[in-house]
Amino acid sequence: MKEINLLRSLPQGKRNLKARETGKTSDLIEISKKFGQMYFDGPREYGYGGYKYDGRWRPVANDIVSHFGLKAGDKVLDVGCGKGFLVKDLLELGIDAYGLDISTYALMNCEKESIGRLHLGSADSLPFPDGSFNAVLAINSLHNLPREKCITALREMERLAPGNGYVQVDSYHSEEEKRIFESWVLTAEFYGYPDEWQEVFNEAGYTGDYNWTIIS
Ligand SMILES: C[S@@+](CC[C@H](N)C(=O)[O-])C[C@H]1O[C@@H](n2cnc3c(N)ncnc32)[C@H](O)[C@@H]1O
Repeated sequence: MKEINLLRSLPQGKRNLKARETGKTSDLIEISKKFGQMYFDGPREYGYGGYKYDGRWRPVANDIVSHFGLKAGDKVLDVGCGKGFLVKDLLELGIDAYGLDISTYALMNCEKESIGRLHLGSADSLPFPDGSFNAVLAINSLHNLPREKCITALREMERLAPGNGYVQVDSYHSEEEKRIFESWVLTAEFYGYPDEWQEVFNEAGYTGDYNWTIIS
């Protein structure tokens, strides 16, 4: 199990923290947590403010393939796959890629290359046999579950691809980063310092790799 940043090639967008902090209401959060049209393609205060394919996941797909030593035909599952951008880019590299997401909206508006490869479901119940994937990824999705369900989801990842997971979740290294994160966060149910996440990984028996999403 090691910390590694497989998302290092993604561009770092500038976030308007002030606008988010002042505009956040409980109604808005409730709508965002539905992971519907408003979260993906509605105004920025509800989530992405337009979740469109622009090729930015291609270098990430390359890094995933080399990190796990994947070869053509190997199976990869992306848990919390959204519209299947990463699934599409992994497919282009010859990987037999699949996704799973809780959002019907995302799946109904997926990239055409990903059609038929994206499953509707929740990370804490992955409908696949033990050991059925060469690698399982969960990028910025597991923190949307409460702690106990996060543990179940990590066990599920471990079950499908023992030792070959990659999890990226919300975290912070200082009180100041925590304050900034809490002013930004909309949908996360569980988050914490790296050592709090390490406890969750240990309780789950998760032996894959991980990294943190830090807002600063
Ligand atoms: C921040 S987005 C990340 C999407 C994609 N992985 C990416 O990095 O662009 C979080 C995703 O997790 C999905 N999600 C939320 N709760 C989930 C759950 N319980 N099981 C599976 N997916 C979930 C959302 O629908 C959304 O697609």
